Amino acid sequence: MLLHAFPFSSAMWSAQREGLAGVCRVITPDLRGFGGSPLGEDAPSLDAMADDVAELLDAEGIDRVVIGGQSMGGYVTMAFCRRHPDRVRAVILADTKAAPDTPEAAEGREKNAGRVLSGETLTEMVPNLVGATTLARRPMVVGRVRGLVESAPPAAVAWALRAMAVRPDSFGTLRALTCPTLIVVGDEDVISPTTDAEAMHEAVPHALLRVLETSGHLSAIETPEQFDEAARAFLSTL
Ligand code: MLT
Repeated sequence: MLLHAFPFSSAMWSAQREGLAGVCRVITPDLRGFGGSPLGEDAPSLDAMADDVAELLDAEGIDRVVIGGQSMGGYVTMAFCRRHPDRVRAVILADTKAAPDTPEAAEGREKNAGRVLSGETLTEMVPNLVGATTLARRPMVVGRVRGLVESAPPAAVAWALRAMAVRPDSFGTLRALTCPTLIVVGDEDVISPTTDAEAMHEAVPHALLRVLETSGHLSAIETPEQFDEAARAFLSTL
């Protein structure tokens, strides 16, 4: 089960759907409001997204999963571990962090939520979402990321910004993890840099930490071969 980053959709996992297909069943839901998923009426919270995943598992008749997420998807994965621990077989945390927002970051999100709801797009995010190498040498990837950012549904973007702004500290959740865990980070990630991955690794010492080269915050999109290889190697140990 792979959960997408903000402000994307299941479309961001197209390489993994193909690259991991021979190894396991790959489920890539649209988190609420994104892709084809309705936003609903709930107050913004990543817990609601985590509970949606549990409902999806019920509908599919699946008891336990290897659950992973990139960035916001990683926040939702940690919420899922907190709320549905007995359904977790193993965890993959990619380009994400366990720390909550600082008050300044939360304020910035609220400002951006207002901008998006008044018709602006968050195109200025794009250069930070990808790494320096992608920005300089992978124009197709940058174009795809820009297209996805610009086409994200405004109500979902605002809802998710507000949900991320109130997410709790997840270090306790990580310390409680006993299942196999893989932490992945792009070496050029400037949003959840390697120091965040190292802090998560400290909280889950039995986790495997993989640093992907020439990759930024969207490692699954920027360097899918490396991402898939890390995931396949991890899955083969389960
Ligand atoms: C993401 O890629 O999901 C976001 O950058 C996460 C965040 O804004 O904290």
